[in-house]
Amino acid sequence: MKNFLSTKDLTKEEILNIFDLADTFRELNTRGVKKAPALAGKTVINLFFENSTRTRTSFEIAEKRLSADSINFSVAVSSAQKGETLIDTVHNLESMKADIFVIRHECSGAVKFVADNTPVPVINAGDGLNEHPTQSMLDIYTIRRAKNRLEGLNVTIMGDISHSRVARSNIWAMKTMGMNVRLFGPPTVMPNDVTSFGCKICKNIDEALDDADALIILRIQRERQGELLIPSAREYARFFGVMPHHFVKMKKDSLILHPGPINRGVEISSHAADSDKSAILEQVENGVAIRMAILCMVDKGIKA
Ligand code: CP
Repeated sequence: MKNFLSTKDLTKEEILNIFDLADTFRELNTRGVKKAPALAGKTVINLFFENSTRTRTSFEIAEKRLSADSINFSVAVSSAQKGETLIDTVHNLESMKADIFVIRHECSGAVKFVADNTPVPVINAGDGLNEHPTQSMLDIYTIRRAKNRLEGLNVTIMGDISHSRVARSNIWAMKTMGMNVRLFGPPTVMPNDVTSFGCKICKNIDEALDDADALIILRIQRERQGELLIPSAREYARFFGVMPHHFVKMKKDSLILHPGPINRGVEISSHAADSDKSAILEQVENGVAIRMAILCMVDKGIKA
């Protein structure tokens, strides 16, 4: 594995290998001294061309726990602001002997474009509305830890499917793991080619919640919507949000996940976000271990 760009070409065995390695790092992350020497002497550069709280911090913590020299490239104060191209920026950082690039970019395909133009291994930390593969791995890992299995589980991904890289990465990987993926959201934010995803499309929220082992709730990605596709947040909350009265329709042990940032009172009520069904903060915790596993695998160039 030179790069980690997509979940599309991962096999079941490769995903399980990532989870096995993450198990060992999860344990390490509970110790007093949370340090392993796996990436000692390696330089990892995090290039985030788009805002991030969870992914950037999670990668930085993962790199430091693996003893790497972790560098955060700040786009706002970089020469990208003076017109330097993405590839020129990357070539310059390459010359400083970077060992791994972790890249987030607002343009779909930009991370693969970099990977195709550098010998340095690249990890996709989210590209436009294309993919967010490390988020998908931590989502599925969180579900497996809660359910002790994946095959045959019903998962509903609900919200702005069109503009969600999390939805895409999860659909590919969850289907590989034998999970039944259903989609639910306003028709204005359903992709035109949604039938090619091979998922059931739910007609209303009752259908979306029915027999769901896990819900992945997405926020409305206003920054990626070229036009106003959701006329009113209040209306969205009423027809598409997970609210307290929905709990009676959910399975007793159904799990609520959200990649964050959450919009309380819009796609998810505080009741749902803070309930004992919520695994939102477990996702964040597991994200560090998952990213440690992926960093190690990419560094060693091993097939996941
Ligand atoms: N889940 C996620 O990608 O969050 P951030 O945008 O804060 O990194």
